[in-house]
Amino acid sequence: MSDKTPPVLRRPTAEDGPAVTSLIAACAPLDPNSAYCNLLQCSDFADTCIVAQRDDEIVGWISAYRPPSHPERIFVWQVAVAASARGEGLGGRMLDELVARPAVQGATTLTTTITEANPASWALFGAFARRHGASLSKSERFTRAAHFAGAHDTEWQASIAPLPSAHT
Ligand SMILES: CC(C)(COP(=O)(O)OP(=O)(O)OC[C@H]1O[C@@H](n2cnc3c(N)ncnc32)[C@H](O)[C@@H]1OP(=O)(O)O)[C@@H](O)C(=O)NCCC(=O)NCCS
Repeated sequence: MSDKTPPVLRRPTAEDGPAVTSLIAACAPLDPNSAYCNLLQCSDFADTCIVAQRDDEIVGWISAYRPPSHPERIFVWQVAVAASARGEGLGGRMLDELVARPAVQGATTLTTTITEANPASWALFGAFARRHGASLSKSERFTRAAHFAGAHDTEWQASIAPLPSAHT
């Protein structure tokens, strides 16, 4: 059990952009996005993104959105927890906060993509599914040969349903 203060979770603002960019860059194997991409997430997608702040430091981040072609879904793009804040349940807390947001009400399914070789991510989303009594299914979404020209491992889509917000 950690004796650190639990980080405060909130919507990001554009001013969080630089700290979010640094955090993502420090959280391999996440793709390091452009600063501009993160600014758009922090502003246009703020209702479905979360920063976790402890004192003056951004130690956690989730980016997500409702795909226009699948509004019944909430797609989680990236989850990043600073090394100093791992193992405290922060990743799980941010996912729980995300699906409780007004902007996620009515979504029935959480989707994300994960490479085979990311056990921490599979554990994070598997624990989320168990906590909410939901089932997790997986299928190939973006494959090494067809979508990454051999330069990136296949991304498996994990689908978790039903979401707690689907019951309200
Ligand atoms: C994945 C990540 C977000 C987990 O953050 P975290 O705050 O440490 O996770 P939590 O403490 O909420 O743990 C959630 C579950 O995952 C498990 N877990 C966490 N890290 C793990 C690891 N390295 N290996 C195996 N299981 C792990 C926990 O035991 C917990 O499971 P439980 O509830 O069954 O005990 C963090 O390790 C990270 O930022 N990694 C680098 C970026 C990344 O891979 N992001 C995910 C892809 S989008």
